[in-house]
Amino acid sequence: MTSSVDHPQLARSRQLDLYRRALRTLPGGTDSNFRAWGEDTIYVDRGRGGRVWDVDGNEFVDLRMGYGPVILGHGDERIDDYVNERMRRGVSFSLTSEDEVRAMELVCELTGWVEMARMTVSGTEATMHLMRLARAFTGRDKIVKFEGQYHGVHDYALISVSPNDMADLGDADNPVRLAWGRGIPDAVADTIIPARFNNIERLRRLFERQGHEIAAVIVEPVLGNAQGILPQEGFHKAMRELTEEFGILEIFDEVKTGFRFARGGAAEYFGIRPDLASFAKAMGNGYPAAAFGGRREIMSLLPDKVSHGGTYAGNRVAAAAAVRTLEIIRDTDALDTIHRTGRRIQDGLREVINEAGLPFHFTGHPSMFGIMFTDKIATEYRDWADTDHALYDAIAVGMHARGAMPEPDSREPWFICEAHASDDSVDRAVTAFEASLRAALDARARGELPEAGQ
Ligand SMILES: Cc1ncc(COP(=O)(O)O)c(C=O)c1O
Repeated sequence: MTSSVDHPQLARSRQLDLYRRALRTLPGGTDSNFRAWGEDTIYVDRGRGGRVWDVDGNEFVDLRMGYGPVILGHGDERIDDYVNERMRRGVSFSLTSEDEVRAMELVCELTGWVEMARMTVSGTEATMHLMRLARAFTGRDKIVKFEGQYHGVHDYALISVSPNDMADLGDADNPVRLAWGRGIPDAVADTIIPARFNNIERLRRLFERQGHEIAAVIVEPVLGNAQGILPQEGFHKAMRELTEEFGILEIFDEVKTGFRFARGGAAEYFGIRPDLASFAKAMGNGYPAAAFGGRREIMSLLPDKVSHGGTYAGNRVAAAAAVRTLEIIRDTDALDTIHRTGRRIQDGLREVINEAGLPFHFTGHPSMFGIMFTDKIATEYRDWADTDHALYDAIAVGMHARGAMPEPDSREPWFICEAHASDDSVDRAVTAFEASLRAALDARARGELPEAGQ
């Protein structure tokens, strides 16, 4: 990745060739805007455990883990063998298999509060269907979402997500509906009300004013798209009470946090019982398994009163992967291992950053955490702008050059998998961080890296 900081040079000739070739057929040379990094776009060859190799043969400690789904490790034989065995019976029937039933039973069992659930292929579909269900159940059209939260790429989710310039979000007292990109009809955007995380008083005033038109609040329990900014003490409890007072449904978007923060996800971790929730990522160890579920009373609007379908919903590969992954999460201490490993990495980073005398704090959860260079505790997306993210980004780029791969954007947390505990991933990640931090600070001393806030 391009940088004025001194970092080792990695071999990239095959990736550059592939990039130029891909550009002819794939816009941006890739299948998702989120990994279109120009000439720095990474083309992967394979992964194993907590490691990933690009097509030039460079090896990395993977700290992205596919944006979170690979909770156990790449190529985990416990999952892959089971999926292989099941898929030999056929993959897609648009009929229902026992794997699907079993997978949704496990979602209900592990969460302890979900009474009914259905599979989708992506988190996007899951949040989209939940919004529709909430509208159908309440007879109201509007959905409240928090600035800086990402709920997928359907039109209703792409409002006030994560602009670089906070001014785009409008006045803090009067946030605007900021559509991410063109093509989102105003009529759709008008049904979404952006709100500010951790601000219960503002939410109460909104409910008092417009509660009669609001079907649901959708919330990711931490700002997983902004380094995992945490709810303040009591925020979730107060929001749950408020939604109940106004008859507004609460949707927990557990796409990133589900089966990761705890067996029962962030709902268990924060002690909240929402009405509905979306799940994806960790439930399939990287296979495209996702689900939405919640209270029986609401879910029972399916199949007769609310539309939901999908040729691939509950396909054999995804359902089998979910069954095996959720069984492992239920029956082993995989999550404890992941949480412990995350804390070990944090301990190493803390030592390095303290030695450099920089203000910082960790956000998120040890299994999915951000590093914010600021002494002010961030409470909402707008606070990210005040952090020294130029320093973070320079470090992330440097880590890549030194064999460890976090996302090169400070907003995306580091994701820890079970396999990171089984080799020297922790040491390698901390060592790469330390060397990259030094290089970034040297560049700053030379005036080649902007100071915080510039
Ligand atoms: C919280 C959250 N919700 C929804 C989504 C969308 O999921 P998918 O990418 O599977 O469509 C994501 C994806 O990163 C997410 O982080």
